[in-house]
Amino acid sequence: MIVKYWQIKDSEALELGKIKVGVIGVGNCFAGLVQGIEYYRRNPGEKVIGIMHELIGGYSIFDIDFVAAFDVAENKVGKPLHEAIYQPPNCVDWLPEVPKSDVIVKEAPILDGVGTYVEKMIKPIKQTKSDEELREEILREISDSGAEMLINYLPVGSERAVRYWAEIAIDARVGMINCMPVFIASDRGWAARFEAVGAPLIGDDVKGQVGATILNRVLAKLCDDRGTHIDQMYQINIGGNTDFANMLERSRLMSKKISKTESVQSQLSRRMDEGRIYVGPSDFLPFLGNTKICYINIKARMFANRPFEIECKLSVDDKANSAGVVIDAIRCLKLAIDRGVGGVLTSPSAYLMKRPPIQYSDAEAKALMEKYIAGEIER
Ligand SMILES: NC(=O)c1ccc[n+]([C@@H]2O[C@H](COP(=O)([O-])OP(=O)(O)OC[C@H]3O[C@@H](n4cnc5c(N)ncnc54)[C@H](O)[C@@H]3O)[C@@H](O)[C@H]2O)c1
Repeated sequence: MIVKYWQIKDSEALELGKIKVGVIGVGNCFAGLVQGIEYYRRNPGEKVIGIMHELIGGYSIFDIDFVAAFDVAENKVGKPLHEAIYQPPNCVDWLPEVPKSDVIVKEAPILDGVGTYVEKMIKPIKQTKSDEELREEILREISDSGAEMLINYLPVGSERAVRYWAEIAIDARVGMINCMPVFIASDRGWAARFEAVGAPLIGDDVKGQVGATILNRVLAKLCDDRGTHIDQMYQINIGGNTDFANMLERSRLMSKKISKTESVQSQLSRRMDEGRIYVGPSDFLPFLGNTKICYINIKARMFANRPFEIECKLSVDDKANSAGVVIDAIRCLKLAIDRGVGGVLTSPSAYLMKRPPIQYSDAEAKALMEKYIAGEIER
């Protein structure tokens, strides 16, 4: 019998190639990802909390190699990765330093990446290269570094910049993980273009390990499954990092609100009236740093029309919340590359992302994800 390596169990690690990853946006999420992996490298006895399996298809969290990085901030471009992740306004400080890296952060086109509120916190580089020059430089960097996938961590509202990078991934024929809410994986046109070139895609908008969205989904589904009638529901979020500063600019928020609201609506057997549901970021309090506070309130009725109310508060490190999930996304995307599968990976997207092309309940999505990892389903 031929045993494919993705059928091998967690305890039977294989010698596999490193996963070569390029990153777009060296902000707090990426700083958390790098420092989190290093934290576990320094504490080998600790169980890694917040990933689905120690090994996915034979790959551990230590097989991830960041080989290329792109940003626009003057204090990050031109710096090696291990220094760039500590530049302000980044504020992840789980470790005082990480091992030296040879990877130098390269220039990206600014386009609509830097919003009005963030401009005071990030000084963008002066762009002197022509569009064509910059594009060629980026494609060369991807090719020379051997990056086989790009993780997109651009700020909310960077519609043009995200489309630029989706084009780059397609041209370079590399995979893409879209961690934010500009719709690529959930857009049929983009999904078809990735599939046509054989590049795998996971997206859109990463779901936290225990974040506001998944908590709200579970509570809403509980009320729905138990046959109650939900009259109104809101989820408000406050935080103190650049992500929250950027989201003060309401015009940048359109797709974020759709992504978060639809993620909750998708769990209900009957859609709520748009006027009775609010799911979104609400304010920026700089002293909170990477702590995100979420309040969920559900007003509903049960048997005999009797009202009841659920009030829930979550206080969480926003960056720890996404890093483990992205580690699983990276390993799932790598499996698709190894298996020669291009286009959207619908099962990992459903489990790991808020706005996948197909929504399932979180329990169904988890079961599909396991089947995908085991190689029982293609995507
Ligand atoms: N729990 C989470 O952290 C979570 C969950 C879901 C989605 N997200 C999304 O992930 C994204 C990244 O979050 P973050 O906290 O790291 O944000 P951040 O503001 O800390 O980092 C963004 C980085 O992008 C850079 N940048 C801006 N414009 C650019 C451009 N045109 N090209 C290249 N780089 C550019 C900035 O200089 C900065 O380094 C956000 O869109 C956020 O909403 C995060």
